[in-house]
Amino acid sequence: MATDGRSLRERLEEIRQRGISAIRSAADRDAVEQARVEYLGRSGQISQALSELRDLPVEEKPATGQTGNQVKQALETTLELRLSEIEAAAAASAPSSSIDLTLPGRRQWRGGVHPVTRVIDEVCEIFREIGFTVASGPEIESDWHNFTALNIPLDHPAADMHDTFYLADDRLLRTHTSPVQARVMLTHEPPIRVLAPGLCFRRDPWDPSHAPAFEQIEGLAVDEGIDFIEFRSAIDFFVQQFFGTGTRTRFRPSYFPFTEPSAEVDVTCFLCDGSGCPTCKGTGWVEIMGSGMVNPAVFEAVGYDAEKYTGYAFGMGPGRIAMLKYRVPDIRLLYESDVSFLEQFD
Ligand code: PHE
Repeated sequence: MATDGRSLRERLEEIRQRGISAIRSAADRDAVEQARVEYLGRSGQISQALSELRDLPVEEKPATGQTGNQVKQALETTLELRLSEIEAAAAASAPSSSIDLTLPGRRQWRGGVHPVTRVIDEVCEIFREIGFTVASGPEIESDWHNFTALNIPLDHPAADMHDTFYLADDRLLRTHTSPVQARVMLTHEPPIRVLAPGLCFRRDPWDPSHAPAFEQIEGLAVDEGIDFIEFRSAIDFFVQQFFGTGTRTRFRPSYFPFTEPSAEVDVTCFLCDGSGCPTCKGTGWVEIMGSGMVNPAVFEAVGYDAEKYTGYAFGMGPGRIAMLKYRVPDIRLLYESDVSFLEQFD
């Protein structure tokens, strides 16, 4: 390196100044790296200058060497500073490049209507069109309303059928919504057309197909001249509305003490359209309710003229219907308040 008569120390000072301004003016990481190689690299300007140390007179060596180290340190510090400035600038400008403020925000789930409640609402809405209003009754019932009034004597096998939660005295947790039938008839005169949705309780296990608390929707129509045809028409109207036009309805003879005749109502499986699938266990039909013409014994129990009035009643499980409709494999999902399950229904 040409010395131009300047001492090594002077030249090191010049390197310091040039190096500092080169580093400070580096626009990005690559430019800083270039300056580092140029000044601090193994064959950079400082190394080259210091290689001349060995030619210096012995008395100048310590001071010049010290200057060399100071210059090195000064450049290293400047370099670090510049690098962190560049990082900070990149971070500060990041939002405009990587965050799109025009995108819609992440949606917060604000709750939704429970699948069973949806079914209940929909059922009530459909029956409203044919004159049904909504009634309710207490979940804690007397055994008279729950059993006796409905032609189920307490020693009747049907009373065993309902494995009941008994409370003190003659109180119990209602095992079905049918006691609302008795309550409505005790307080109203025909014509009657009511639906009574609500919780029922049975000493059932907590497993994929049973829950000790579950919903039912009771239906009751009482008037002069109601016959089986009207009953079938009402149920068919509901089925067409709820499950879709073209859905077929099947009445299977059954037995309930409070209806005579009684029938289980099946509809063509709405998942496979009747061709047979796991949901309908290959039969093509799914059961949706118990039903029948009101047994005159019930009219007598509530003080109605059983000669004058006829009617029909039905009871369906909206939980079961929700499971079929939304393909819920385990009834417990309906009652566990698991948000990851429930947020699918909003
Ligand atoms: N209460 C009956 C049950 O719980 C259902 C039903 C209601 C049947 C009304 C006939 C008439 O199984």
